Amino acid sequence: MVVLTARSENTKPQGRLTMQTVEIGSETLCIRSLDWDRDRFDIEFGLQNGTTYNSFFVQGDKTALIDTSHRKFQELYLDALTGLIDLSTLDYLIISHTEPDHSGLVKEVLQLAPQVTVVGAKVAIQFLQNMVHQPFQSLIVKNGDRLNLGNGHELEFVSAPNLHWPDTIFTYDAKTRILFTCDAFGMHYCNDYTFDEDSELIEADFKYYYDCLMAPNARSVLSAIKRIDKLDVGIIATGHGPLLQHHLSEWVNRYQQWSQEQTKADTLVALFYSEDYGYSDQLARAIAHGIQRNGVAVELVDLSDAEPHEVRELVNQAAGLVIGMPSQANQNAHAALSTILAAAHNKQAIGLFETGGGEDEPIYPLRNKFQEIGLTEAFPPILIKEPPTQVIEQICDEAGTDIGQWLTRDRTIKQIKALDNDLERALGRLSSGLYIMTARKGDVKSAMLASWVMQASMNPLGVAVAVAKDRAIESLLHVGDRFVLNVLEEDNYQSLMKHFLKRFSPGADRFAGIKTYSASNGCPILADALAYMECEVTMRMECSDHWIIYSSVQTGRVAKIDGLTAVHHRKVGNHY
Ligand code: FEO
Repeated sequence: MVVLTARSENTKPQGRLTMQTVEIGSETLCIRSLDWDRDRFDIEFGLQNGTTYNSFFVQGDKTALIDTSHRKFQELYLDALTGLIDLSTLDYLIISHTEPDHSGLVKEVLQLAPQVTVVGAKVAIQFLQNMVHQPFQSLIVKNGDRLNLGNGHELEFVSAPNLHWPDTIFTYDAKTRILFTCDAFGMHYCNDYTFDEDSELIEADFKYYYDCLMAPNARSVLSAIKRIDKLDVGIIATGHGPLLQHHLSEWVNRYQQWSQEQTKADTLVALFYSEDYGYSDQLARAIAHGIQRNGVAVELVDLSDAEPHEVRELVNQAAGLVIGMPSQANQNAHAALSTILAAAHNKQAIGLFETGGGEDEPIYPLRNKFQEIGLTEAFPPILIKEPPTQVIEQICDEAGTDIGQWLTRDRTIKQIKALDNDLERALGRLSSGLYIMTARKGDVKSAMLASWVMQASMNPLGVAVAVAKDRAIESLLHVGDRFVLNVLEEDNYQSLMKHFLKRFSPGADRFAGIKTYSASNGCPILADALAYMECEVTMRMECSDHWIIYSSVQTGRVAKIDGLTAVHHRKVGNHY
């Protein structure tokens, strides 16, 4: 017999990893793992407010645990869980999807609850079998299937593929009107509030999360919203951040509106990959991030279960195609590749990447076929021979940026021509200095010529830099990231400016042939700079097509005390 004791332990951030357990409905608990300091999900997804991993427990006559937690919470989570319930009597473990931030402790729960039946989509159960390497009882569920726990808790499952993995299911409990959605409608936001009382506090994180995780699957978001429309939902219990209750329809409407905008975007890239093969998902998302940086929409499509008519329709609509090589043995993917080849045309851009599964379809024969049709290669094939590193993710991000820039080149030219003469000349009178920003995070380094730079505060010392949204270096300029601002010298800037204005292919070393030494924050200082400052990003402000990066300045030096900063005078103000 399970004893259900709800207790609330609102905790303070000093522990950095803490737990919170709250009753959120009749016989329903939320067990939140609070990860206060997590600053990144994948390379492209910088976090400012940490995150939480939310797990849930429902007690009818039978009991169900919905998702677990991240491995880093092993001790804390299992302590909390075993303090609440007797795991040897747990009936069901429902897996919303198998990404490790929610299923990282499934193996440990199975060891404590060997009698439990694991409930999930077919692909999720297959994934788990490979993850836990031990036998377990399972129940495969499809859209509309129900599981009666008794005492009014009849659970209904809603298939929500791609939100955010292909195996995602939502779970709805009609008794409490709670819809458990895992990643969907979540946000990376960690605080003691269990619910969304203060929508203003969290709306920026809600949007950022949507952009990073959900926008590339906008069509899947719309399908899921259609499926849950018939349910009478009172709470959306997400897997990350606060649960949604106080502004529920507003949050759902935003997802719907943003997804409709995405699917109507002028320029679209169809990104085909095989989600459960190799490192396809991770690489595809890094490429998608680079593409979206240019305001181009991306639609991710799993080659393994793509329907031919959907593939054809998407290829017809897309201005660019990106394909991650599936396994040679994947029959459905082969058929989908043939459909793509038949529908592709010479006005499109193409990019190909290996997915590192060991049995990848060879990349070059496919590349030749696309070249015969006349597609423009937007980036050279990305060849993966080992598990992806930060550097490989950065290459993918930069490759995505390249195809996005190629597809928006006409738009950029139109914008340059759009201003009237007087206004563009007046704006051109705004002069500025010339600088090279250099950034490093782990093994990834990048650099950018910057001219829109100004001192922005005196106490503490701070500078502001405007960085165009389509710059790949933007991934390295999230809050907490560090960079060096190198000041170019009036009589000695031409060769550095020319070097850093060059077009670099994805992953190319920006510093090859340039003399540098390392700053105390790890970023490169250019030996020929007049001065440098070591900076740490403290704030980012979104300004239309640029990010304003406000940073505190920690230290700096001047090489020549009488040297003057190179100044950039422009004739017109509608480009740099
Ligand atoms: Fe929060 Fe897709 O895992």
